[in-house]
Amino acid sequence: MRRTGQNIAAALVVACGAAAAVAGTVTLTAVRDNTVFQESLNSAGADDNVFAGMTSQGDIRRALVRFDLSGVPAGSMVTAAELRLYCTRTNSSSGARSVSLHRLLADWGEGTSGGGGQGGEGAPPTAGCSTWVHRFYTGQLWAAPGGDFAPGASATALVNAEGSYEWEAAGMVPDVQAWVDSPAGNFGWMVRGDEAASGVAKRFASREASQAARRPTLTVTFTPPATTGACCLAGGVCALLTAGECTGQGGAFQGVGTACAPSPCPSPVGACCHPEGTCFAASSTECSPAGGVWQGAGTLCSPNPCPALTGACCYANATCQTLTGVQCAAQGGTFAGAGTTCATVECPWVLVPFVDSLPRPGVAQPDTGLPGGAAAYTMRITEQSQRLHRDLPLTRVWGFNGGYPGPTIEAWRGAPVEVTWVNDLRDEQGALRQHHVLPVDPCVHGAGTDAPRTVVHLHGGHVPMSSDGYPEWTFLPGQQSPPYTYPNTQPPGTVWYHDHAIGITRLNVYMGMAGFYLIRDAAEQALGLPSGAYEVPLAIQDRSFNADGSLKYPAMWMEHFFGDFVVVNGKVWPYMEVRRGKYRLRMLNGSTSRTYTLGLSNGAPFHQIGTDLGLLGAPVQVQGVTIQPGERADVVIDFGGYTVGTEIILTNSAPAPYPGAPGVGVVPDVMKFIVQEETGGPSTLPATLTPVPRLEEADAAVHREFMLHKMSDPCTGSVWMINGLMWGDITERPRLDTTEVWSFVNASGVSHPMHMHLVQFQVLDRQDFQMVGGVPTPSGPRVPPPPEEAGWKDTVRCDPQEITRVIARFEGYLGKYAYHCHILEHEEHAMMRQFETTCYANCDASVTPPALNVADFGCFLTEYAAGNPYANCDGSTAPPALNVADFGCFLTKYAAGCP
Ligand code: C2O
Ligand code: CU
Repeated sequence: MRRTGQNIAAALVVACGAAAAVAGTVTLTAVRDNTVFQESLNSAGADDNVFAGMTSQGDIRRALVRFDLSGVPAGSMVTAAELRLYCTRTNSSSGARSVSLHRLLADWGEGTSGGGGQGGEGAPPTAGCSTWVHRFYTGQLWAAPGGDFAPGASATALVNAEGSYEWEAAGMVPDVQAWVDSPAGNFGWMVRGDEAASGVAKRFASREASQAARRPTLTVTFTPPATTGACCLAGGVCALLTAGECTGQGGAFQGVGTACAPSPCPSPVGACCHPEGTCFAASSTECSPAGGVWQGAGTLCSPNPCPALTGACCYANATCQTLTGVQCAAQGGTFAGAGTTCATVECPWVLVPFVDSLPRPGVAQPDTGLPGGAAAYTMRITEQSQRLHRDLPLTRVWGFNGGYPGPTIEAWRGAPVEVTWVNDLRDEQGALRQHHVLPVDPCVHGAGTDAPRTVVHLHGGHVPMSSDGYPEWTFLPGQQSPPYTYPNTQPPGTVWYHDHAIGITRLNVYMGMAGFYLIRDAAEQALGLPSGAYEVPLAIQDRSFNADGSLKYPAMWMEHFFGDFVVVNGKVWPYMEVRRGKYRLRMLNGSTSRTYTLGLSNGAPFHQIGTDLGLLGAPVQVQGVTIQPGERADVVIDFGGYTVGTEIILTNSAPAPYPGAPGVGVVPDVMKFIVQEETGGPSTLPATLTPVPRLEEADAAVHREFMLHKMSDPCTGSVWMINGLMWGDITERPRLDTTEVWSFVNASGVSHPMHMHLVQFQVLDRQDFQMVGGVPTPSGPRVPPPPEEAGWKDTVRCDPQEITRVIARFEGYLGKYAYHCHILEHEEHAMMRQFETTCYANCDASVTPPALNVADFGCFLTEYAAGNPYANCDGSTAPPALNVADFGCFLTKYAAGCP
């Protein structure tokens, strides 16, 4: 139950009431005492001692003692009383003698007489002293000499030697209770010793005793009076209060000692208002738990007193209207709650899946040559509006030659392709764009201004540095790249192109700058894999949308971005009609951060036939495939066994961020296949595909280690780093025609898809590690990749707390190439560095080609003799016997800038 303010107050009152009922104890020191002497009218009020019992002369002495009980609250119940007297002297032969207390029945005085010696005699009385015959000297007498007291003893104790004695009989309780109840009758006790034998008087310390601890004390234990009771407050709330507190709060006091459980308070009914404005009759205790606001006892629902509270009402098209909850439901909206506003609530798009047919990107048309052969292209980077879902308004996107994703470039192994990339981004008026469409975060390294800079990288392409889309070599709207040469001297594979502008790659790719580049060859063609209509590239990306349909992306750099919808080839959750047969699907994860674990909703297995950069040795049957940003999976799905109309969803189960708890951050749908009547696609898959020769670790000249981790950053809070170094810090200079092993040591909590330009690599293995004294220390075996990952790759999943090793041969081109995490938010800040391939180390260990000089010849000879990597003019790499032709070759290469 939700506690109201009143309930809480009541609870506190109850607690206080309970505390007041706890027993009290007071210890009182005598306020008056005296001794009366049978043999004289002496008194001993000022003496240190009092006497009780018969002296050796045969005279009786009696002590009187009285306590002030005002420290016990009126109305208290006395539960125990204990008198303590300290015996200061006794006749050593007198032995134990009973000493008893008798309630005194008349008032008496303690004057100033006495004060001498042992106090055994007292002294002649002064005014107000009590004596054997006087209550107050001189005029007021006891009714009977020796004092007026109750004949029955209230308590008796045996007093023997010197020391402390207690009287605590139950009979004392009524005496003390009477004195508490009626202080005017409190005359104390007469203390009587043994009055039948001589020489047995006992002497006790009086209240004048110099040792305070010996003075007579009375300890009273009592239960204080009950003063609280149930108080019925407004709304039927019951609180334990005193009568005064209760009336002060306007309550009705139910009497001292009455309880709140069960509540004696009537629960009054009044109008209870729901935030939507509906009204119902309820008591206050029923109203607030039901989410209402009670209008007070006796208030009525007719006429309806309840204001209808409004809030943000979200519609499926991400628009918002301020309505009451009832109105919102009637409009088919989702009410964000009373008191919310459209200014603060972000209404999400609610899109129906599988209503748009999957688009297939067109084939790029060259300026010269033919698609699929040697050709030259002009690819214009363009801004246009596309409908990314049936129910979305047009979305402004960036693509190539008027389309997002860009058209597919068809290439043939060995047939070079040339592409001139033109930045033709224009605004609505057709003017060249001055500013980016998305906010540019200046915290990110290299972001600079918000100019829409671009540069295009062929991801997976083995190309010269001058054509690689070096991230700093960006060009503005109205500018273009030099013609980029793609030699296509690599095995067939699913390569793709995308923007790589330093500082804004994530924004440019998010806007749509990506497309496929497929390299084929005759050997692959001869395999008879599904082709033509049965071969479909799938660019899988996630996106979010603003209410106006525009792409939604955070203004400030964030560690990750995860979109709400999965877009395949430019449509949200499309469907694809498939014929009954096999389809080759070239899946590309083109998202900025999201990992996908793709599977089929009917649980059917399928085959993976290729990795990032080519075919596997043989098809591998899988239940699913996990691809991280930048990775590709070439798969064949067989729809041959299904009946017409069968619907199968391509599902995603990867959490975001990845890895993570199952279900967290998952967008479960990707696209849907709908099986048609017709048959199509080849019926069989070849048993083997292509040889994938393994790179041997033993051939590696250099092993390098890369620590992947997150650090703090003054501008953005955090930054992702590789070995704590930046883009400009070049520390890896692989020599051309050598093999290296790179170990990615992931000391962070998320996976990083590590990508290297220029090279194709193989995954060697993965190994658990722990940090021991700041050093990554392997803690498990090296686990080789599964067969479906054992092909050529350029991007590898590096999971947390694992060392992922890849092996690559650096060949072909000299220059600086990027390597980076392909989570674009990571790449941008600042998980991107560069290596520089070198073919030459000068004698001073520098790597830039020097001016031709004799010393370099000497160095060359030394290195030559040492068998250092060297490409002979006949293309072989083994150190040849020194011969004149090699000198000629050296000179040629040297002149070409590669000594
Ligand atoms: Cu696909 Cu350097 O990236
Ligand atoms: Cu990363």
